[in-house]
Amino acid sequence: MASVTGLEGVIAAETELSLVDGQNGNLVYRGYEAKELALHKSFEETAYLLWYGSLPSQETLNEFKAQWVAGRTLPATLESVLDLLPNESDMMSILRTAISVLGTGDNTQSAWPPSDKAIIAYTALLPTIIAYKYRQSRGLSPIAPHTDLDHVANYLYMLTGEIPQPSHVKVLTAYFILAMEHGMNASTFAGRVVLSTQSDLASALCASIGAMKGPLHGGAPSEVLHMLDEIGSKDRAEEYLRNQLASGKRLMGFGHRIYKTNDPRAEALRRIMTELSSEDPWFELAVHVEKTAVDLLAVYKPGRNLYVNVEFYAAAVMRAIELPPHLFTASFTASRMVGWTAHLLEQASCNRIFRPQSTYIGELPVSLRQS
Ligand SMILES: CC(C)(COP(=O)(O)OP(=O)(O)OC[C@H]1O[C@@H](n2cnc3c(N)ncnc32)[C@H](O)[C@@H]1OP(=O)(O)O)[C@@H](O)C(=O)NCCC(=O)NCCS
Repeated sequence: MASVTGLEGVIAAETELSLVDGQNGNLVYRGYEAKELALHKSFEETAYLLWYGSLPSQETLNEFKAQWVAGRTLPATLESVLDLLPNESDMMSILRTAISVLGTGDNTQSAWPPSDKAIIAYTALLPTIIAYKYRQSRGLSPIAPHTDLDHVANYLYMLTGEIPQPSHVKVLTAYFILAMEHGMNASTFAGRVVLSTQSDLASALCASIGAMKGPLHGGAPSEVLHMLDEIGSKDRAEEYLRNQLASGKRLMGFGHRIYKTNDPRAEALRRIMTELSSEDPWFELAVHVEKTAVDLLAVYKPGRNLYVNVEFYAAAVMRAIELPPHLFTASFTASRMVGWTAHLLEQASCNRIFRPQSTYIGELPVSLRQS
């Protein structure tokens, strides 16, 4: 059996959660187009859909939201551990440590199979952890969660202490919904592999966070921002991008293992951003860089079908709402928690331990060599 580098094209599971149609550029969550959900549903409604398989009635949604609100308060043990962590730590390392702490001490949280209660609690708490440590690292006192705000609005509120503008909530909600779930990507797969050993929820999520942290996966949006800042103006774009490609560097925010056409999430975010900041010179620069980069990628990497991916416009969204760049990957993580945990529930419901093989290409002892 030949090995497949990067497991490209290997089907590792059947799933009812999402269809990632890379040839036609469609993303479907349990029978609904993700871009429609992003425009018309809340984060909580979409999470309910992914976890339970249907959209909630108003009454169910109200009860469900109450569970999220109850899960937002930082437990005292976690708060003490967060206080000990150096302020200069990167936020993904903070999140990995925080989830690990949550997985200690309380047997109901670490039991197999993972429970709905634990999944909601972990997902609801993530923005509180980010906001707490972010404010602490700036010498600011923490802002308690706002019980009347939804998940996304409350995240922005806990970061700034101000009720966020509706347009900011709208665009961040759209991004969070579009980034919530995406099939068998590296972080989701990592979590499913850990859970398949009948390990606990926290251990599986720590694996997912570790995978998400890498620049080829969740670390791309801050790199995109860095690239656009370096380019600075439209007239410098082509020269800069040519230099990057000629020296063998990758353009952050372009290319995708599955999408060989436009990433539908990037297109949806570009549309929403056009409404929000069409006059903004930085956004105009981003649109120009996208076009120039796609043209140049076709020249420097012919036949590879490299187009813009979600991370490029995720950077535009997060910059427009003034989210600090070092919170980009952590914010992506706060939304992807829903997809990860939906996959973990699915894995637990039909579990078989993952155990692929490798092809040995090293030396054989003399006794085993064929003459
Ligand atoms: C996303 C990504 C990791 C997918 O990787 P992959 O499916 O393993 O694709 P490969 O690494 O095999 O790349 C295939 C070819 O396209 C090139 N390529 C892929 N993405 C590229 C990019 N962003 N810029 C320049 N070249 C790129 C590779 O250099 C390779 O060229 P080669 O055939 O000459 O060796 C890759 O496209 C990438 O690194 N993108 C930039 C990071 C990013 O935006 N990540 C967020 C993803 S949502």
